[in-house]
Amino acid sequence: MQNQDITAGFQSADNSDSAYLIKFLEDVHNCETVRNVFKEQLAWLKIQRGDYVLDIGCGIGDQAYEMAKLAGYAGLVTGTDASHAMIDMAKKRHSASGLNLDFLVAPANAQPFDNLSFDHIRTERVLMYVKDTDPVFAEYLRLLKPGGNLLVYDVDWDALVISHSHTVLTRKIVGFISDKFPSGRIGCDLFRHFKRFGFNDIKVKACGYSHPLELVKRIIGGIIQTGVNENSFTANEINDWWAILERDDREGKFFASFQGFMVMGRKQKI
Ligand SMILES: C[S@@+](CC[C@H](N)C(=O)[O-])C[C@H]1O[C@@H](n2cnc3c(N)ncnc32)[C@H](O)[C@@H]1O
Repeated sequence: MQNQDITAGFQSADNSDSAYLIKFLEDVHNCETVRNVFKEQLAWLKIQRGDYVLDIGCGIGDQAYEMAKLAGYAGLVTGTDASHAMIDMAKKRHSASGLNLDFLVAPANAQPFDNLSFDHIRTERVLMYVKDTDPVFAEYLRLLKPGGNLLVYDVDWDALVISHSHTVLTRKIVGFISDKFPSGRIGCDLFRHFKRFGFNDIKVKACGYSHPLELVKRIIGGIIQTGVNENSFTANEINDWWAILERDDREGKFFASFQGFMVMGRKQKI
């Protein structure tokens, strides 16, 4: 199957090959490092029975489901996503769970809830697809109860490292990928945004994901192909670049790491 451009795809999953994107999310969730980072998020959030939790950009809803087990029947977890295909899949996977878990379609910057509705809000790998993130932070503040937690995890695409003998071309490819995201440097800027929006007790943790070549191809292969289609690279130089990584992989020398940042802050108590 041809790798899809995930920057274009996740900005508008309903107008893309949503089945490809859903399978991609399932496979990413199964990575041990990704699961471990989620476990750490739960340890930071400390969701209690009776808590109201919002997962913005919830995708296929697997993390919302895990959080609903913690919030229990006195609480409620709601997952929202801009994509109908994602929300339909989230409902299909989790509606029969019997948990207090709700899914609905809504863009990150316009959530259909009353002010001060949630004890915790979480967003993972979503803000990189949003050009202007300030209205999303304004929504976080509006929706959180005083003293409520905001936890955001996102990637800094400039900090993608790929061990490759063609360092100049590799830098150019990494820069191209980063610029293709509406907010490719959001991981690095999260701390600044938490400060600007007045969050307290801010914690930051850098989390690197090292994926096998096959998954790396699915994450960045389609974006690089967009670069070929737009004449930012030639097909030959990109074919040679991948061939070197494949040879490295056969020789057990392939290494790439995606750097993300997990940031949590507390809304001021009045
Ligand atoms: C990479 S997926 C991450 C999904 C989920 N948070 C996870 O960790 O698996 C990005 C998700 O963000 C959603 N998304 C992209 N732009 C959005 C926006 N402006 N508002 C809400 N959701 C958005 C996409 O539809 C997709 O489900």
